[in-house]
Amino acid sequence: MSRQQEKFDLAELEGRVAVITGAGNFGIGWGLAKYAALNLHMHVALIDLHEATVEQAAADLRVMAPDLGILALACDVTSSADLSSALERIDVHFAGKGIGAVFANAGVLFNNSILKSDIEDWETTLNVNVLGVVKTIKAFVPRLQAQAEKSIFCTTASVGGLVRGDGGAASYQASKHAVVALTESLSFEIARKSPQVHVRVLCPCIVSTSLMKSSQLNKSAKNAPASTDVASIKPNEMVLGMTPERHAEQVFDLIADGKFYLVTDNVRPYVDHDFPFDAMNIIAERFDNLKELQLDNADAFKTPAEGYPSSILKGPMFRAQTTIGNKD
Ligand SMILES: NC(=O)c1ccc[n+]([C@@H]2O[C@H](COP(=O)([O-])OP(=O)(O)OC[C@H]3O[C@@H](n4cnc5c(N)ncnc54)[C@H](O)[C@@H]3O)[C@@H](O)[C@H]2O)c1
Repeated sequence: MSRQQEKFDLAELEGRVAVITGAGNFGIGWGLAKYAALNLHMHVALIDLHEATVEQAAADLRVMAPDLGILALACDVTSSADLSSALERIDVHFAGKGIGAVFANAGVLFNNSILKSDIEDWETTLNVNVLGVVKTIKAFVPRLQAQAEKSIFCTTASVGGLVRGDGGAASYQASKHAVVALTESLSFEIARKSPQVHVRVLCPCIVSTSLMKSSQLNKSAKNAPASTDVASIKPNEMVLGMTPERHAEQVFDLIADGKFYLVTDNVRPYVDHDFPFDAMNIIAERFDNLKELQLDNADAFKTPAEGYPSSILKGPMFRAQTTIGNKD
């Protein structure tokens, strides 16, 4: 067991800076930003594509944490130039404070099968979800390596990056499998040289956010990435989803516990119900298939009465969801 797997005393992050991409629409990134500021007393740099949305999120956080530095940065994570100027602005704004955590969390989701999907959606998905993470690593990891203090570099993949492809969101799942693999690679690459940088991959199950809406909005606004007239989107209220705030609590609990794969299931105490996503069993199915060199696609033959024809969306949470429904 290397130092990469060590427990992390979160108190060491106090007074340092948390950098979070994809933090402008009150989703997972916002939850992490709020937790970092309110619970860990970290200064926060929120990054997102549109100035208006990320400024709004930062303004809300400044009200909650008036004693901390909260910086909003409009930045396209598919642009290395944007990311380096974001780091320059962080250095100037938070001079002498040191970066304690970076979350490469921005992402998009276009829910479609391979045969029905647009190639353009694949390009956007791979650009943002994969190359955006690679570029964020290249921009920020050397800085963390140059610091002697312990820090966290966490990518956001998905539970979809650990399970079998299920035919519903092919480009998304392919991109998230890539994020898991490239984060494992990063951990190996820097393990000996920079053990103070704790590399982690976040694999959320279901968090109530506006990912599908923000993806569509960013797609339609892509020619004006820094536009100021894009309004923030508030998350959907999924009946059984985790709130971004309680999700963040689980993320930091897993980091503190020294985990590498931060699989955040919909379980107590992070939700108030007993219908988990069942991530570990669904992940295990993939590895059982691999051991037999077989793909069990029986889930594709489900009738509508039996639920979604999906190898992923089938645990207690989804069985209950079909009867309880969502508020949008
Ligand atoms: N919500 C879930 O249940 C869930 C589950 C698994 C993984 N995830 C992942 O969590 C991450 C955050 O998503 P979320 O669900 O909180 O939704 P969200 O919409 O709140 O966050 C995604 C953010 O990424 C930003 N973004 C998109 N393209 C960008 C770009 N080129 N540059 C900068 N920012 C960009 C969007 O504007 C948006 O604010 C994503 O990577 C997503 O794939 C979410």
